Amino acid sequence: MSKTVDLSVRMGDITFKNPFIVGAGPTAKTVDQIKAAEDSGWAGVSFKLAIDPFPYINWPPRYRWLRKEKIHIFTAETRLKTEQALKLLEDARKTTSEIVLIPTITYDGKDREGWVRMAKLFEDAGAHAIELNMCCPNMSFNVQATGKEIEEATGASLGSDLVALPKVVKLITDGIDVPIIVKLTPEGGLIAQAAEASLQAGAAAVGSTANRLGIPDIDIRDPMGTIYRLQENITLGCISGPWLRPLGMRDTYEMRFHLGEKPFIIGSGGVRNLQSAVQQIMVGADAVWVCTETMLRGFDWLPKLLEDLKSYMAEMGYERIGDFRDLLLKNIKTSQELTVHDGYAEVDLDKCNVCGLCWNIGHCCAISHPQDRTTIDREACIACSTCVDICPQKAIHMVKI
Ligand SMILES: Cc1cc2nc3c(=O)[nH]c(=O)nc-3n(C[C@H](O)[C@H](O)[C@H](O)COP(=O)(O)O)c2cc1C
Ligand code: SF4
Ligand code: SF4
Repeated sequence: MSKTVDLSVRMGDITFKNPFIVGAGPTAKTVDQIKAAEDSGWAGVSFKLAIDPFPYINWPPRYRWLRKEKIHIFTAETRLKTEQALKLLEDARKTTSEIVLIPTITYDGKDREGWVRMAKLFEDAGAHAIELNMCCPNMSFNVQATGKEIEEATGASLGSDLVALPKVVKLITDGIDVPIIVKLTPEGGLIAQAAEASLQAGAAAVGSTANRLGIPDIDIRDPMGTIYRLQENITLGCISGPWLRPLGMRDTYEMRFHLGEKPFIIGSGGVRNLQSAVQQIMVGADAVWVCTETMLRGFDWLPKLLEDLKSYMAEMGYERIGDFRDLLLKNIKTSQELTVHDGYAEVDLDKCNVCGLCWNIGHCCAISHPQDRTTIDREACIACSTCVDICPQKAIHMVKI
């Protein structure tokens, strides 16, 4: 525990004092929020999206946090006007001293030069870096997904267009001096290629994952209704939070695997504690965006997480984030390369309370219960291990041969 650990990560000339950045969303819309994030030790903040020309689709926010399923979902959301985001940046520059300020922008006009004009406004107002939203599935991608024609590609539609995306990124990086972060989408299936194209076009960093589009829960006795409060009807909704974690990790992994060790990558999707943060870093992230958890719990849980991260690193002998970044890349094999051991399941009858749950496993021909006594036939056991997960008494374990 005596080893000193360094939590900082560097993106070009910018140093983040730790890998935690508030992800663009409703907790990055006011100067009080940004100040509170700085006071709690967050290293950076990606502002809520500013979109120009305005209005795009703009509704008062209606969210659902489906606690049991650990899904956050919404469609109705308020974006910032350029003037609002510029004012936020100016105020944040005056009231904060350390936190890295990253306005997030989308230009939705017909001329691509508009992206540069918009970015320049934020550069001149003192942005430390600028994030391009090439990820929001809730804009033209949502429209496309419901079979409608779109005039201009924005958000996830533009981020998955490997021809248009680098042209837009290059225009901006040619015209702007501050680092450009491109936040990408896995919708479209080419996130690694889009990341490579963005970096070749001059981006300082790439990141994933914004929300994924899904259909919200429906009440089967009132199917034309809505799960939202104070909102009629549903749309394909933006899903985030813990549910997104495995998919977010895959996106980071795909980018890191494809891009190699040099580029700065920001991951996101369900980061909420030591475990999920370290996992993102181990599959290739230099830093993480956190949005949903800041909506549910505010900012002031970070100091405890930073302490946990320091203790964990000291315990594992890691001095820097880079010491465990990408670690899992070596362990993720193709399906042909798997090593699978022979074995069988064994039950401890002292722990078994004959609840019967494992007796019903549909694919198992090994478990029987003569005289209500759970019995596992080793010869018939295919060692799948489902029974270990099913048993509430932890009465079953696997034996390796
Ligand atoms: C209500 C809400 C609004 C969001 N708005 C934006 C946005 O304006 N721009 C953006 O790039 N991402 C936006 N996001 C995506 C988050 O920044 C983040 O990438 C995503 O939710 C996954 O991380 P999480 O599971 O920590 O929320 C939003 C997410 C939520 C839940
Ligand atoms: S490991 Fe699979 S096959 Fe073996 S007893 Fe358990 S559920 Fe049945
Ligand atoms: S699930 Fe566990 S406790 Fe229940 S019958 Fe099977 S072994 Fe016994």
